[in-house]
Amino acid sequence: HANGRVNAGHNALDVVLEGLRRLEYRGYDSAGIAVVADGSISSRKKSGKLANLTAALEADPLPASLTGIGHTRWATHGGPTDQNAHPHLADGGKLAVIHNGIIENFAELKLELLRKGVTFASETDTEVAAALLGDIYREQLGGDPSRGGLTKAMQLACQRLEGAFTLLAVHADQPDVVVAARRNSPLVVGLGEGENFLGSDVSGFIDYTRRAVELGQDQIVTISADAVEITDFYGAPAEGKEYHVNWDPASAEKGGFPSFMEKEIHDQPDAVLQTLLGRSDIDGKLTLDELRIDPALLKSVNKIIVLACGTSAYAGQVAKYAIEHWCRIPTEVELSHEFRYRDPIVDANTLIVSISQSGETMDTLMAVRYAKEQGAKTVSICNTNGSTIPRESDAVLYTHAGPEIAVASTKAFLAQITAAYLLGLYLAQLRGNKFQGEIKDILADLGKIPAKIQEILDNEEPIKELGRSMADAKSVLFLGRHVGYPVAMEGALKLKELAYIHAEGFAAGELKHGPIALIEEGQPVFVVVPSPRGRDSLHAKVVSNIQEVRARGAKTIVIAEEGDEAVTAYAEHVFYIPESPTLLAPLLATVPLQIFALALASAKGYDVDQPRNLAKSVTVE
Ligand code: G6P
Repeated sequence: HANGRVNAGHNALDVVLEGLRRLEYRGYDSAGIAVVADGSISSRKKSGKLANLTAALEADPLPASLTGIGHTRWATHGGPTDQNAHPHLADGGKLAVIHNGIIENFAELKLELLRKGVTFASETDTEVAAALLGDIYREQLGGDPSRGGLTKAMQLACQRLEGAFTLLAVHADQPDVVVAARRNSPLVVGLGEGENFLGSDVSGFIDYTRRAVELGQDQIVTISADAVEITDFYGAPAEGKEYHVNWDPASAEKGGFPSFMEKEIHDQPDAVLQTLLGRSDIDGKLTLDELRIDPALLKSVNKIIVLACGTSAYAGQVAKYAIEHWCRIPTEVELSHEFRYRDPIVDANTLIVSISQSGETMDTLMAVRYAKEQGAKTVSICNTNGSTIPRESDAVLYTHAGPEIAVASTKAFLAQITAAYLLGLYLAQLRGNKFQGEIKDILADLGKIPAKIQEILDNEEPIKELGRSMADAKSVLFLGRHVGYPVAMEGALKLKELAYIHAEGFAAGELKHGPIALIEEGQPVFVVVPSPRGRDSLHAKVVSNIQEVRARGAKTIVIAEEGDEAVTAYAEHVFYIPESPTLLAPLLATVPLQIFALALASAKGYDVDQPRNLAKSVTVE
């Protein structure tokens, strides 16, 4: 992910490296940096995490400079090698380019450039973009800044590129500027005093300024120490939208915890609280004025489709139970990348609810766009202000979890469930159905959740201990029913992501239809047990499921509600969570599973904030 800057005083190298450190969670297969100094480009790049690059820079420093760009990579075209790392050079080493996204027509462009005698040192699509830019600058514009220079070359190059990209370029002939382009991939400008910045998100420059400018689609920006000029791909002037970044840089620091992940697990009471704050009045009436969507339209909705990926999709699955129960609107949850390829039935009465922590997940963005084209109304539940998905949606409900840095999602998940519940209650309120009377009570129960999460966190030692003791586990299964089912899947996902252990979440009732064959002596099985005070015979059914696996040798680890004595006889370990209504229990039951995965992965010595192969914002399809 990209970070670039031009400034009046600081050394570009320090600032770009600091920005990369803050952005590293977005991708960390390799890292690289280029600065413009003494009329030429100097660059270094290394595969692996940023630490490899900083070590290389210590051994072989770059010259002091006022202009530089840097990148951390999540490999798409070409493996994570030094050679494939960005920046890529062109124009005889005078031009350096970094890129996020995928250039879809790179093969065709590469062929064209090869025919002209251009040679390539990597397998990346980025190098093709760099070569194209270099070729245009040199051949079409004569390498002459008075004919538009790098900015003009970028415009012409972008007219030829297909796909999704954020590109940043610096050229030795124009040492005072960084030129960037954006199509679909994220890019923000930071406005400083006598210095300006670019970043994939604001954390890249948050130490220097809180003034940020959003760019629109298909725009090009040229920054220098004292100017920011925006155009479209054809050179027509354009305006960016300035906004103030209101989070505190300290909230993106570890705050005394050994990892971001642990800190963010501990941020959860506040993440839920902040998401609830100011969204209802004392009479228990929801006031989601920020939604800015015509209430009449919301009333006419006859189907909801929740679109998301990863952990956010599990939040959607939890929300489905609540929304259908409260609103009586049929609600589907679908992985964004599956949705648009199956000819889904979407029309003007369909409400699309996308859930995305980053607001940049390309799969989800594309699914939302597709639904919009079909005439659906779109609401985004998102944690990142000003990001692309909320901007392209008809309405947004922000989750106020604060910046989430650890790649595996924790606090955003709880905040997403909270926000989706608020949306469900709001729809129920608008539609005036029979749940009116209950809304106030549900809101009151939601209000008690932060303190209950805190209680779990204050008593986390036993579950941590269990996690540490299971570092050798080869496979762990998770069972749940009703809202406990997506919680089980999220528990399994955390373990896969952090500890690289085979883990699977099943609907407890489905076990007997196949997966029970997996159970053998000593197989660890987590069971998320619903409240015994809950509906129908749900609790009894899950208790039977515990017995079924126990009888076949499983080592059962049970998450149950305080005071639930029925489970103790069948459980190797029981972890109690505070009482809550069934629908709200996921906000509690998830927490011990997160702590377990964190403790187990830490005991194995793994980097819990940046697990292998993953990236936080996956901005490619
Ligand atoms: C990536 C991350 C996951 C995340 C998913 C969806 O795969 O590694 O942690 O749940 O993307 O991200 P989003 O930002 O759309 O919620």
